[in-house]
Amino acid sequence: MLAALILLGYLAGSIPFGVLVTRWARGVDVRAEGSGNIGATNVARVAGKKAGALVLGLDALKGALPVLLTLQLMPGEPRAHVSVGLAAFLGHCFPVWLKLRGGKGVATALGVLLVLVPWAALAGAAVYGVVVKVARMSSLGSLSAGVAAVVTAAFTAAAPEYAFLSGLLFAFMLWTHRENIGRLLRRTERRF
Ligand code: G3P
Repeated sequence: MLAALILLGYLAGSIPFGVLVTRWARGVDVRAEGSGNIGATNVARVAGKKAGALVLGLDALKGALPVLLTLQLMPGEPRAHVSVGLAAFLGHCFPVWLKLRGGKGVATALGVLLVLVPWAALAGAAVYGVVVKVARMSSLGSLSAGVAAVVTAAFTAAAPEYAFLSGLLFAFMLWTHRENIGRLLRRTERRF
């Protein structure tokens, strides 16, 4: 059962909503525009705020739904919940449909954490909003949100496994944002 749920989580996570929505809304490949990322930020740059918001919601849902299903089918098994959430996140970052070249995982992590550690997800979303409003840089917002989520999860997680997952997702986000981090350090990061 768990193996099937992990596979389902990965396959759900690997649905490239950013590519699909941008192609549908603007008829272009989001991977060839802006930052080249398939996430909601770049979709908003390329196809407008409504398309970006749609991708944010869909990318979060594809993380949240497999975890919700696992909670229903395997209650009281936090390692199963964490495994499926991680699979969805990795599906987004390494999608089989895009030759394993996917996105940075922020919205999908948000969806997973909303289900497992809601206060951490909400803290991250709030910090993202403030940082983007002030600095106008989505990557800085995402990384700051990750720190806020990890700290909040350490204090509020219902199971230690959920706090561990928050840290693991943040570690992966440091990797997926490695080029953004380089640009932030060189002060050449693109604005939202
Ligand atoms: O969620 C991705 C965001 O943190 C950075 O996106 O397109 O500015 O590299 P981008």
